[in-house]
Amino acid sequence: MRENTALATGMVSLLLLFSSMPICQAKLRLGEPKVSCIEFYLHDLLVAEKPTAVIVAEANMAKASPTLFGEVVVVDNPLTKGLVLTSKVIGKAQGLHAYSSQSELSLIEAMNFVFTDVKFNSSTLTVMGRNPVLHKVRELSIIGGSGAFRLACGYILKQTYSVDLTTQNAVVHYNVTVLHY
Ligand SMILES: *[C@@H]1O[C@H](CO)[C@@H](O)[C@H](O)[C@H]1NC(C)=O
Ligand SMILES: *[C@@H]1O[C@H](CO)[C@@H](O)[C@H](O)[C@H]1NC(C)=O
Repeated sequence: MRENTALATGMVSLLLLFSSMPICQAKLRLGEPKVSCIEFYLHDLLVAEKPTAVIVAEANMAKASPTLFGEVVVVDNPLTKGLVLTSKVIGKAQGLHAYSSQSELSLIEAMNFVFTDVKFNSSTLTVMGRNPVLHKVRELSIIGGSGAFRLACGYILKQTYSVDLTTQNAVVHYNVTVLHY
């Protein structure tokens, strides 16, 4: 009985504490929403002097799986304005993907685009989605962002431009359509 009283007193004090705390007063001060279209090439380098994609984990059966089901890759892939790796770098795609289908070559991707060029310098976009890699065009979601892209949403259409058959290094074209403030 005494314990119950103590508990009740504790809960009342806790309630009083919460009710006396200020609730969030921040104003969002959002401007008019705008749509930006950003186009670039992503370089996925598995085999290179400095690889930008590394396999970090795989299930025992992943190597025997025709769809690599169970393999996880971490990436820090450069994004360039032009098609070639030596063209202007505008940011990086940092994140991970996992082969997540037993019936086709398909990934779940979770990554941040970290921009470093003048316009969106230090802003990020957070991307998540399904990438059935052999489809001509794949669509992924933009689920948020930071800096210039705070509260962003949008979508990505991407298309593999080329794959080196010996190294599996790939160049992928990205069309990013982002709604932001
Ligand atoms: C981007 O911002 C960083 C610091 O936040 C600065 O060092 C760098 O020079 C900037 N880059 C460009 C291209 O403006
Ligand atoms: C990407 O954008 C370019 C230029 O706006 C366009 O020509 C191309 O068809 C688009 N690609 C996809 C897959 O939507």
